[in-house]
Amino acid sequence: MDRRSFLSDIGITLAVACTGCLAACSKGGTNGPTPPPQGVNFSLDLNTTLQNIGDSLVKSGVIIVRLAAGNDPSSFTAVQAACTHEGTIIGYNTGQGIFICPLHGSEFSKSGTVLVGPASANLRSYTISVVGETLTITG
Ligand code: FES
Repeated sequence: MDRRSFLSDIGITLAVACTGCLAACSKGGTNGPTPPPQGVNFSLDLNTTLQNIGDSLVKSGVIIVRLAAGNDPSSFTAVQAACTHEGTIIGYNTGQGIFICPLHGSEFSKSGTVLVGPASANLRSYTISVVGETLTITG
């Protein structure tokens, strides 16, 4: 192989390698959308958790927030914890009464409706029931 052929072959190889690298790099750094949890069914003891308005916790991929006093299902909300944009765990902002994603700033209502993008899909919400001091999340 002469020098010109060698350099030509190397150039083609590098071009192919760079194309593959760019394709991989364009996907890097993001988790992508996360499917919402299915078949959720767990209970929490309200004597020991979610006692104050604004308290929240994440369990089994669901974020549960106490919105009001009293142990009534309407005192709580439960939605998927992973942002529908790229899967970052959202947080509840008590002052604004909304969920906010810390990565790109998407905002969701208490029930999971998209208010501000870049997320375009609503959060999945879950069924809440309360019996005595036991809160159960299903869905
Ligand atoms: S991951 Fe991008 S807004 Fe949530």
